[in-house]
Amino acid sequence: MPEDHFGEQVAERYDTSAAEMFASAVVEPAVNFLAELAAQGDALELGIGTGRIALPLSQRGVRVHGIDLSSAMVAKLRAKPGAEHITVTLGDFATTTVERTFKLAYLVFNTIMNLTTQDEQVACFLNVGAHLEPGGCFVIEVVVPDLRRLPPGETVRPFALSPTRLGFDEYEVASQGLVSHHYWVEDGQLEVASVPFRYVCPSELDLMARLAGMRLRERWSDWNRERFTSESSKHVSVWEKLASPPAR
Ligand SMILES: C[S@@+](CC[C@H](N)C(=O)[O-])C[C@H]1O[C@@H](n2cnc3c(N)ncnc32)[C@H](O)[C@@H]1O
Repeated sequence: MPEDHFGEQVAERYDTSAAEMFASAVVEPAVNFLAELAAQGDALELGIGTGRIALPLSQRGVRVHGIDLSSAMVAKLRAKPGAEHITVTLGDFATTTVERTFKLAYLVFNTIMNLTTQDEQVACFLNVGAHLEPGGCFVIEVVVPDLRRLPPGETVRPFALSPTRLGFDEYEVASQGLVSHHYWVEDGQLEVASVPFRYVCPSELDLMARLAGMRLRERWSDWNRERFTSESSKHVSVWEKLASPPAR
């Protein structure tokens, strides 16, 4: 089982520390996009967390089931109004199975990168493939690796710089590893946390999708369907499960 980086302390402050991600200008386009793809079907959220997307999606009439490793994050979801309509399985979303299929599966807010090896990311696609109905869709929202900003020989890029918060991404290019180091001041105390990720480019995700019997249907630079270009800093990609795997 992968290490849980979303324990009690993180879960306690998740909704406030990620407050900008809970703004309706951020959540609504994502929910509109996902509700449209779910049509009248059910949805599976990998890494459901405290329900930032699952709760408003459920309020739109989509039946949502979640998988999450962190019982602390799920407890926060459970305490929110509307959570009674959402079912959750605790476990690793790369391997945990649910005894039903879905029209839509989705993995937002860079969470595919929480799987820190290629094997785990491939396993996640295979797991999703096994849970999708033919024609069903898998949606990932994730950053495009920021390697063009990493000069040769350098390994560290700052992502937050303020009097009360510092953040640095430390790259290990050989393994596509990335450790985000966070330092922040809370109640006059310095808090620190380091979280490991594996960054992954869109084309590698497309190959993982092919291994899992899916093909790319759409790729946008955001939830409002802005065109994906060489300058896009993130992508929202949709892969569709094929009715039958293509001949090799
Ligand atoms: C950045 S949070 C995103 C939560 C929610 N989807 C959102 O958009 O606010 C990542 C979530 O994924 C969960 N997670 C990370 N790795 C996981 C894994 N391998 N299996 C299941 N859950 C995982 C964490 O516990 C956490 O709740």
